[in-house]
Amino acid sequence: MDQSELSVRGYDRLAKVYRGLEFCLFGNSLYRARVALVDQLPVTGRALVLGDGTGQVLQQLCLTQPNCQITTVDQSEQMLRRQRRRVERVGASDRVMFVQTDARTFPVPTDKYDLLVAAFILDCFTESELADCLPRFLAGLRPQGMFYFVDFVWPKTRWRRRQAAAYQWLMHRFFRWQTGLPNRRLVDLECVLAGQNLVTLHSADRLHPMTSCRILKVGWDSGMSD
Ligand SMILES: C[S@@+](CC[C@H](N)C(=O)[O-])C[C@H]1O[C@@H](n2cnc3c(N)ncnc32)[C@H](O)[C@@H]1O
Repeated sequence: MDQSELSVRGYDRLAKVYRGLEFCLFGNSLYRARVALVDQLPVTGRALVLGDGTGQVLQQLCLTQPNCQITTVDQSEQMLRRQRRRVERVGASDRVMFVQTDARTFPVPTDKYDLLVAAFILDCFTESELADCLPRFLAGLRPQGMFYFVDFVWPKTRWRRRQAAAYQWLMHRFFRWQTGLPNRRLVDLECVLAGQNLVTLHSADRLHPMTSCRILKVGWDSGMSD
């Protein structure tokens, strides 16, 4: 079985227990990080959501962006099923398109979206995959488009980094076992983001020392970072 199949099967299997596992390890912290800045997003016409798992950001987006047309891409049928349920619950089925495919090969139309969402999915990719895919995902944004980023990042202080290293070791072992995750440690996503042409407009980095939630915009013009 190749890595992609392992990953799909793994996330299909994990879908049922994903939230419970997360709660055992992190309580509500990851949920809070995920939705921390959804309310701050400007009115959005079209959004592309990548790897949203059980659909917590998607649901929140449906509620806060009542006119937004959303394409949600996930490789896992079981995760998409959970997303669909959430979308139905908030009465937004008519404006969400569900695409079951590998985001790494999803042909992102250029200049189409006002919003790109990636919550805890970029850490599933290797550095070389990110170097190839992230610019392609970002090219899907229109000139004023926003990138809603949520993921694990390395904390700044030394003892927090040690604590994060232990958590990350555990999580990487677990996801390697369950989904064939090729990474052995957390990719430095700060560094990956710094290599893109992005400006931070809002950030919520203090909800948990290992997570970051940001609204970014393509372009070097001055932001209004907090
Ligand atoms: C670690 S989970 C994160 C789920 C959710 N975004 C969250 O905040 O918890 C990764 C999600 O991305 C999906 N995923 C991982 N690699 C993918 C890929 N190459 N293409 C599409 N979906 C992928 C998985 O199926 C899963 O739903």
